[in-house]
Amino acid sequence: MAKHPFPGFLLVIEGIDGSGKTTQAQLVQKRLQGGKLSVARTKEPTTGYWGQILRDSALTGRLSLEEEAEAFIKDRREHVENVINPALKSGKVVLMDRYYFSTVAYQGARGLDAGTLLRRNEEFAPEPDLLVLLDLDPKLGLKRIKDRGDKANYFEKACALRKVRDIFLSLDKPYLYRLDATQPPEALRESIVRQFWAVFDRRLTRPR
Ligand code: TYD
Repeated sequence: MAKHPFPGFLLVIEGIDGSGKTTQAQLVQKRLQGGKLSVARTKEPTTGYWGQILRDSALTGRLSLEEEAEAFIKDRREHVENVINPALKSGKVVLMDRYYFSTVAYQGARGLDAGTLLRRNEEFAPEPDLLVLLDLDPKLGLKRIKDRGDKANYFEKACALRKVRDIFLSLDKPYLYRLDATQPPEALRESIVRQFWAVFDRRLTRPR
């Protein structure tokens, strides 16, 4: 769908498992709301029909690669239509924990063509105004998952995550902002919020 035409702002946080996306999404949401913005925080996979199938499959590895990619895309189509676009239309900051770059990186790492996945998603999903990539060595990500008492799921094997990370790192977009996710959470939050305001202000002075 390319750049969206809506008054809202699409802020996406991506990264491998254990990179701190959810923590940052929470911290950044608080900050932006403190700045009097209306923020809709949301995540993928969603809690809808397809999202549930995907969550189950993460535990069992039941879906074929093609089925899995299709399910992520169907989940996203619903999410775009029912949640993301309406919130952008009403002028909200949509703050996302994972988006189609995860499909490109994860299903790309499993063997589908990353470029094709990117194009398919860009056909219907609005591109972010700002995409934050929390970059982390998968060994550290897996250690964090273990330390918080969670079990790594099907998607979270170290060698797979190395490929996932490489695909994330190969993304080349003007709206991409990459951060070293070994930094303390507050430092990361400050960098994200600073970059958000820089892009936000630029948009105000140069309307689409
Ligand atoms: P995750 O963000 O860990 O969800 P939760 O915290 O609710 O368990 O996502 C679950 C897994 O799904 C994660 O390992 C990455 C994977 N994933 C994909 O493989 N492709 C995608 O398009 C998305 C959105 C997620």
